[in-house]
Amino acid sequence: GRVIFSGIQPTGVPHVSIELNLSAFCFANEIAQLGNYLGALSNWVKLQKTAAPDDELLFSIVGWHALTLPQDPETLATSRRDLLATLLAIGLDPKRSVLFHQDHVCAKLSGRDPFLSLSQNQAHTELAWILNCITPIGKLRRMTTWKTRLAASRNANNESEVDESLLNAGLFTYPVLQAADILAYRATHVPVGEDQTQHLELCRDLADIFNRTFPSSRPLFHLPSQLNTISRRILSLRDPTSKMSKSSPDLQSRILLTDTEAQIKSKIRSAVTDSIVGITYDPVARPGTSNLLTILAACTDDDVSEVVRRYEGKGHGHLKEDVAEAVEEMIKGPRAEFERIRHETAFLEEVARSGAEKARDRSEITMTQVRERLGLRR
Ligand code: TYM
Repeated sequence: GRVIFSGIQPTGVPHVSIELNLSAFCFANEIAQLGNYLGALSNWVKLQKTAAPDDELLFSIVGWHALTLPQDPETLATSRRDLLATLLAIGLDPKRSVLFHQDHVCAKLSGRDPFLSLSQNQAHTELAWILNCITPIGKLRRMTTWKTRLAASRNANNESEVDESLLNAGLFTYPVLQAADILAYRATHVPVGEDQTQHLELCRDLADIFNRTFPSSRPLFHLPSQLNTISRRILSLRDPTSKMSKSSPDLQSRILLTDTEAQIKSKIRSAVTDSIVGITYDPVARPGTSNLLTILAACTDDDVSEVVRRYEGKGHGHLKEDVAEAVEEMIKGPRAEFERIRHETAFLEEVARSGAEKARDRSEITMTQVRERLGLRR
């Protein structure tokens, strides 16, 4: 069977509050945006429905990754819990899929093995360290996400020199932790959006380096492949040259899964498009218009070409109206379900606890073999 693994960050997104002061951060509890849903989460649900009985499914809330940006502890605590409620609200079933927090420390309560009883779900950080020790720094320097951070720190200082003291080491080694998340379960398939392709390539590189550095009769790691739903990333509604993201300071740039119908309408209506007459799909010349078509096609599970045909002789107003309607139609169920589940604290805690336990047991199988190969024996 396949081992399907994916992760999503809980982020109390730091927004620079422009009215107040450029250095003042305000932390918003934003759980998931439309890009997360169309690029990844909806695919997780689809995979859960279509998976063979012997396929394993693991979905993780990656709190450690969120720490690479400044987080307000209280907001992060709320976001972590709300994100779990969101995963349940969109239709993930904790009886079928292992839903867990990457950072959950979960001591084994039963069992006689004194070593195991101390063993906690720290496979991710342990494996991340081990992978760090076989990761060529040059590969990390080539990561687009890292290069973007570097460029940003350059602009902030208005200097050509980058001040590396402004960048934390976690941002640099972030893709290694991501590889560890995946490899700890020896995942074969990773459903993520197109913006994660480069990270997944690195993961395959590291799996291959590990297999070759520590050879055995059988290579330990599979080289996991990407499972895309939509071939393109969902772009910002305000700046269609960049991806829709929770970390943009412009709240109008993204649709949240918790947005009301009125908010969805207003955000789509003010989406940046172009002044070309008519509707055509042309991501290079017409990124904003094409982004709306991508969203509409993804929401209605149609081909983009099919959707474009329906807008012959029609304009942006018409398209925007339909996009807003399709988005509302898609998220109204999950939104209501989220509002219901988020207050069921005991249930959420139980889901997290049992998920962490299963994830720990599952990753321990890999880690025992990793330690054995490295010579880190009991
Ligand atoms: P994150 O939390 O930024 O996003 C979660 C998922 O949503 C997808 N996504 C998008 N897809 C299309 N268009 C967009 N605008 C868009 N924005 C986000 C992402 O591709 C992702 O699938 N590093 C990862 C989290 C992670 C992970 C992992 C993923 C950590 N460990 C192991 C897979 C396996 C991230 O920051 O995703």
